Amino acid sequence: MYHSKITGVGHYVPENVVTNHDLEQLMDTSDAWIQERSGIQERRFYRPHEKGSTAKMAFHASKMAMERAGVTAADLDAIVFATLSSDYYFPGSGVLLQDMLGMDTKPAIDIRAQCSGFLYSLSVADQFIRSGMYKRILVVGSETQNIALDLTTRGRAIGVLFGDGAGAAVLEQHNEPGKGILSTHLHSEGKHAEILCLREPGTGNDTIIYEGMHENHDAINPQMDGRFVFKNAVRRMPEVVMEALTYNNLTLNDLDMLLPHQANLRISQMVQKLLRLPDEKIYNNIQKYGNTTAATIPILMSELWEQNRIKPGQLYALTAFGSGFTWASALIRW
Ligand SMILES: CC(C)(COP(=O)(O)OP(=O)(O)OC[C@H]1O[C@@H](n2cnc3c(N)ncnc32)[C@H](O)[C@@H]1OP(=O)(O)O)[C@@H](O)C(=O)NCCC(=O)NCCS
Repeated sequence: MYHSKITGVGHYVPENVVTNHDLEQLMDTSDAWIQERSGIQERRFYRPHEKGSTAKMAFHASKMAMERAGVTAADLDAIVFATLSSDYYFPGSGVLLQDMLGMDTKPAIDIRAQCSGFLYSLSVADQFIRSGMYKRILVVGSETQNIALDLTTRGRAIGVLFGDGAGAAVLEQHNEPGKGILSTHLHSEGKHAEILCLREPGTGNDTIIYEGMHENHDAINPQMDGRFVFKNAVRRMPEVVMEALTYNNLTLNDLDMLLPHQANLRISQMVQKLLRLPDEKIYNNIQKYGNTTAATIPILMSELWEQNRIKPGQLYALTAFGSGFTWASALIRW
């Protein structure tokens, strides 16, 4: 029986720090409003001179993860790449990263599950390893979101929440039961697809690019019913964490750390409260990066790795909720 475990994690964020005060120059907002509603103090936006497209940021994060795992590109069997902000409409960013890493003809799989993208990808990679098909997989989440944000007053409800960044993990086969990825749990509810979406470019208008597209503000900017997203996130994340614990005959007392997707500090605090977790058992970094969508969970893990806070034998729950709706969890015994 094969199992998978994470042997290295890495991350990359652009150097360009954009504070709430910087956003005050662009729109009618305030540092106080943003901090009070979301906890965000600053985020990173890539600038063209950094050459930081989604695949390139993923490349930097992947190199760090591979170095920490002690593997080279030649050791990898596949890439599973999550993003909602791919470099091209098609192909996905996975093949671009595959080329940058020099992975010959190894497969690259693109996953579109937005904020749950990394956990969906981890689940796909875990299944490949459990089946014995692959031994070592690079799992990546990377997002370049600032170019799709309306950073004027009209787009402020969404524009202040998101940031850019990338994270990656090397997943490897091992044979010790009860260690590594214990289980993953995935859900979606497509009836809420339009609650949080970006309509264009898409085929819903017969052609991908149509005349006048750039005049249709609602089509080319992300749309969100923030309150509805909030309510569903605080319901679904605790639910799917409990699903993972129950599946493994474990309880909240067994958990050493919860790493929740970083959409809003108030969402994380509510999830923490509902699960009755003490402060030391939850890790948040939204204050520095905003919501980096599929990159968030691996960035959290990479920061914990750097702080030497990931300890062998400890139990970690990862959970995410986002556009789709999609939500997911993973339970890891390190
Ligand atoms: C988006 C969110 C922060 C908004 O908080 P909220 O308390 O629901 O605020 P509302 O949207 O009701 O807006 C309240 C007021 O602030 C205003 N406002 C919105 N964005 C603003 C901004 N950036 N700066 C200042 N004022 C803002 C609104 O226009 C509204 O004004 P009004 O009362 O005069 O109409 C919150 O709903 C949220 O975090 N939702 C979840 C979002 C999320 O997680 N998305 C990603 C999922 S992965």
